[in-house]
Amino acid sequence: MGEKKKKIGILSAGGDCPGINATIRGIGKTAIVEYGMEVVGIANGFTGLLEKDVIPLNESLLSGILTLGGTILGTSRMKPFKQQEGDIVSDKPQLIKQNYKELGLDALVCIGGNGTQKTANLLHREGLNIVGIPKTIDNDVWGTDVTFGFDTALNIATEAIDRLHTTANSHKRVMVIEVMGHNAGWLALYSGIAAGGDVILIPELDYDLDAVANCLLERSRKKKPYSIVVVAEGIKTGKKKNAGAYIAKKIRKMTGLETRETVLGYIQRGGSPTPGDRILATRYGSYAAQMIHQDVYGVMVAINGNKIGSVPLEEVAGKLRLVEPTSGLVNKALRMGVCLGGK
Ligand code: F6P
Repeated sequence: MGEKKKKIGILSAGGDCPGINATIRGIGKTAIVEYGMEVVGIANGFTGLLEKDVIPLNESLLSGILTLGGTILGTSRMKPFKQQEGDIVSDKPQLIKQNYKELGLDALVCIGGNGTQKTANLLHREGLNIVGIPKTIDNDVWGTDVTFGFDTALNIATEAIDRLHTTANSHKRVMVIEVMGHNAGWLALYSGIAAGGDVILIPELDYDLDAVANCLLERSRKKKPYSIVVVAEGIKTGKKKNAGAYIAKKIRKMTGLETRETVLGYIQRGGSPTPGDRILATRYGSYAAQMIHQDVYGVMVAINGNKIGSVPLEEVAGKLRLVEPTSGLVNKALRMGVCLGGK
C-alpha cells in the first residue's frame, strides 16, 4: 500500500504584496507535481479557516498567476488569538483546530509578515503542522535576509523618487516623499539611496529637525537647485500621523524653501512582482512544499546568505528585523554626504 496522499492548505494573511501568487504557485506546483499532494487554498487569511472557506487548487488554476499582483486567495488582518471588533466566535483557535481537522488538512502554509508568523507559531503550539513563508514590502521579518515583495516595492518607490527629481528641478523645490515600511526603514533607506535622496529619515535613527533644515539650506547656498527628502512612514512625529506632511511643514517653516510632499501609499503594494521577487517567491514556495514532504513543521522558510533553509517559528515570533544604525549602507550614505537626520 502506498503512503496516504497529504492534503495541504495555503493561506495569505496581513497586508498583501507583489509575489504572493508566485509563492502559491511555487508551493502548489511542487506539492502536486513533485510530491503528489492535494492542495487547497484558504480564503481571506485566517478568516477562511474559521469559515471553512476553501478553494481546491489544481495545476491549471495555478497556471498564469506567476506575474499577477495581489493574492488569488484574498487576505485579511483577522487575528485568531485576539478578540477583535465584530468577532462572533468566542474561541477562534478552537474553531480553527476543529476546521483544520474536519477539512482533513495534514499541513498549513501561512504566507505573511510578522503578525502572521506570530499566529503561525501559536497555531503550531496548538498542534497544527505549520510552515511559514515571509512576505512583506517592509522587509522586517526576523530570521531571513529578505522577504518577497520588498524588491518590487523598492522598484516602485525608486521610480517615484526618480520622477520627483525632474519636477523638483523645474520648480526649484524641496520634495518630501513618504514611503511605507511600518516601523522599519528598509524601504526608505534603500529607495532613498537608489534614487539619490539628499535627506533620508528612518525610524531606526533619531533625527534632528535643525540638522535637516541646515542641510537643505546649505544645499540652497551651494546653488543646488532642489532637494529630495525621503521619509519612512514610521519615524517619530509626536502626535502627528502623517510623517511626510509633518516633515514638509517643518521644513517649510524652518527654511522658507518652497516644499511639496507626496505620500506614495498603496501603489507600493500593487502590481506585478519584479523578476527578483518572482524567483524568491518561487524558491520559498517550492521549499515550503519540500518541508511538508519531509514532515518538518513549526518553521518559517528563510534565505540567509542566498542559501535557502528554515528557522524555528518560535525564534521568529514577536521579533522585528530593523536597519542596524551602524550598518555598512548607513555608513556609506553618511560618508557620501546624505543627511540621515543627525547633526
Ligand atoms: O506591512 C505592509 C504595510 O503596507 C506597511 O508598510 C503599512 O504600514 C501597512 O501595511 C498598511 O496597512 P493596511 O493595509 O492595514 O492599511
